[in-house]
This record gives sequence, C-alpha cells and structure tokens, in this order.
Amino acid sequence: MQMRLRLLLGVMCIAVALWGCDPLTRHKVTSTIFDGVPSLPPADQYCQDYHERALLEEKQLASKKKTTAEIVESGSSHPPYKEKRCDKCHDKSKESGLIKPRDELCFVCHPKIIDNYYIHGPASVGSCLECHEPHSSGQKSLLKAERGKLCIVCHKEARIATSMHDKVTSSGLFCMDCHNPHAGAVKYFLR
Ligand code: HEC
Ligand code: HEC
Ligand code: HEC
Ligand code: HEC
Ligand code: HEC
Repeated sequence: MQMRLRLLLGVMCIAVALWGCDPLTRHKVTSTIFDGVPSLPPADQYCQDYHERALLEEKQLASKKKTTAEIVESGSSHPPYKEKRCDKCHDKSKESGLIKPRDELCFVCHPKIIDNYYIHGPASVGSCLECHEPHSSGQKSLLKAERGKLCIVCHKEARIATSMHDKVTSSGLFCMDCHNPHAGAVKYFLR
C-alpha cells in the first residue's frame, strides 16, 4: 500500500516537473476562455499544498494501522490455539469434532478452576463457553463480552442488596471485582 502511494507520488512529481501542476494548466486555459474564474494560489504553493495533503493522508493511513494493532493487543488468544495445537481440542473422528464433550473439554487443562466450596452455576456444569471463546477474543481473558456486559446476560433478577449493587455498577466497578466468576470459599464467591 505504502509502496504504491510512494510510486504514485513519484510519478506525480515527474509529471509536475515536466508540465507543471495539471489543475493549474487547466485553470489557465479556463480563465483565458471565461471571465470570473477565481484566481489560484501561486503555482509553487499549489504544488506544495498538494504534496502536504498527500503526506497527511499517508500519515492518517499509518495511524489507522496502529489502532487495529492496538485492538489485537487489548484482546486475547488461547495459547493452544495460537500455537496451532488444534488437535489438543479437536478430533475429526468424533461427531462433536472435539476430543471430549463440550462440557468436559476445558477441565482437561484447567482441572482446578472450580476447586472450591461454592461453585458458580454455569462453571459447575462445564458451560465455560457461556462466558469464554475457545480460540481468541477482542476482550481480555477470552471473554465473549465486555466485562460490564458479561454477567447481566443471565443475571436480570432482583438483588438482595439492590441499593449496594446499583451503586457499584454506576460507580464503574465490575461484577468480577467482587465476585469470582468460577468459584470461591465464601458465599456468592466473594473475593
Ligand atoms: C482449547 C481448545 C481448542 C483449540 C486449541 C482449538 N479449538 Fe477450535 N473449537 C473449540 C471449541 C470448544 C469449539 C466449538 C465452539 C462452539 O461450539 O461454540 C471450536 C470450534 C471450531 C470450529 C468451528 C467453527 C467455529 O469457529 O466455531 C473450527 C473450524 C475450529 N474450531 C478450528 C480450529 C483450528 C483450526 C484450531 C487450531 C488453529 C482450533 N480450532 C483450536 C476448541 C478449540
Ligand atoms: C490443551 C490444553 C487446554 C485446553 C483443553 C483448554 N485450555 Fe485454556 N489455557 C491453556 C493454557 C496453556 C493457558 C495459558 C496458561 C493458563 O492461563 O493456564 C490457557 C488459558 C486460558 C484462559 C486465560 C486466557 C487469558 O488470556 O488470560 C482462559 C480464559 C481459558 N484458558 C479458557 C479455556 C476454556 C473456556 C477452555 C475450554 C473451551 C479451555 N481453556 C481449554 C490450555 C488449555
Ligand atoms: C460466568 C462467566 C464465566 C464462566 C461460566 C467461566 N468463566 Fe472463566 N473467567 C471469567 C472471567 C470474567 C474471567 C476473568 C477473571 C478476572 O478478570 O478476574 C475468567 C478467567 C478465566 C481464566 C484465566 C485465569 C483465571 O483464573 O482468572 C481461565 C483459565 C478460565 N476463566 C477458565 C474457565 C473455565 C475452564 C471455565 C469452565 C469450567 C470457565 N472459565 C467458566 C468468566 C467465566
Ligand atoms: C450463562 C448464565 C450466567 C452468567 C453469564 C453468569 N451467571 Fe451467575 N449464575 C448463573 C446461574 C444458573 C446461577 C445459579 C442460580 C441459583 O443457584 O439459583 C448463578 C449464580 C450466581 C451467584 C450466586 C447466587 C446465589 O444466590 O447463590 C452469583 C453471586 C453470581 N451468579 C454471579 C455472577 C457474576 C459475577 C457473573 C459474571 C462474572 C455471572 N454470575 C454470570 C448463571 C449465570
Ligand atoms: C462491591 C462489590 C460487589 C460488586 C461490584 C458486585 N457485587 Fe454482587 N454481591 C456483593 C455482596 C457483598 C453480596 C452479598 C450480599 C448479601 O449477602 O446481602 C453480593 C451478592 C450477589 C448475588 C447473590 C445475592 C442476590 O442478591 O441475588 C448475586 C447474584 C450478585 N451479587 C450478582 C452480582 C452481579 C451480577 C454484579 C455485577 C452487575 C455484582 N454482583 C457486583 C458484592 C458485589
């Protein structure tokens, strides 16, 4: 892309050197034929303006590229997926395409994730994929949704401590700042 832009600029500079700025030539022609065509800035400046605009566009293009890279950085990728060890989870000979049923697969490598006294409903039945992507995600921790939106997909019920919960959610705290999403030693898996 940048190569092409530079090539284009190069061709333009040669063209300009050979027969001046094309729009300028055109302007000269139109202004000798018609009256009242607005005057143009001096040729040098016109060419320079054009050159600066091209440079600016190139810069904007580069900064756009940077933002996409930043998005990837803020997301996450599952190590066995990133390392292309697909067969750690996939088995084409099985109907599900997975080495183990969906609700047992994650425990193969994360056996201790719910080792605690109180266990969160979906984690206890191996529904890890309710909250996680198996491969990669635009969010941290392979999460399926933004931290602020993850829990309320299921938890729409009235809270015991309603006023406290209303306050914390409006103050920018996330549910997982206080609750472990998997399991915990205290009731409600409080941290
Ligand atoms: C950590 C385990 C794991 C690894 C490693 C993994 N996958 Fe998957 N993959 C899954 C699970 C679980 C599903 C099913 C997702 C679902 O049912 O929603 C899946 C689904 C898929 C699908 C079905 C379409 C889709 O995206 O839902 C394809 C294709 C796929 N994986 C390809 C790959 C390839 C290629 C690799 C290696 C580069 C890979 N997977 C590595 C767990 C894994
Ligand atoms: C083949 C082994 C393997 C399997 C199967 C596996 N994982 Fe992982 N997972 C890893 C490794 C290795 C890491 C990186 C070290 C760690 O955090 O434990 C990891 C990390 C993670 C992380 C943290 C990622 C991060 O960016 O912080 C999540 C979330 C996760 N796994 C969820 C799952 C879920 C959900 C499943 C089932 C679909 C699963 N894993 C199945 C090997 C596995
Ligand atoms: C209710 C949603 C939810 C479910 C269900 C869930 N997780 Fe998570 N998981 C999270 C959140 C949120 C985080 C990030 C934790 C944090 O930021 O403190 C996380 C983080 C992780 C991590 C990173 C290390 C850690 O302990 O924080 C692993 C590994 C993981 N989950 C595996 C699993 C596995 C395996 C299952 C299924 C048994 C599962 N998760 C089920 C929400 C969930
Ligand atoms: C896929 C649906 C689902 C998601 C997403 C989910 N939960 Fe749950 N949660 C449940 C279920 C099901 C129960 C069990 C309800 C019961 O036993 O009455 C539960 C129970 C709980 C409990 C215990 C309630 C009690 O009365 O014992 C807490 C606390 C909790 N979840 C917090 C969270 C937090 C924090 C998140 C986000 C990290 C979250 N949940 C995301 C389905 C979900
Ligand atoms: C500042 C910490 C904090 C945050 C943030 C927080 N909670 Fe709680 N949560 C608590 C405490 C403390 C309790 C226990 C309340 C009690 O025993 O009266 C609780 C209890 C619960 C319960 C079980 C009792 C009930 O009312 O059903 C659920 C479910 C729950 N929280 C879900 C959530 C969800 C969903 C979020 C995010 C929207 C969240 N919590 C955010 C501290 C927090």
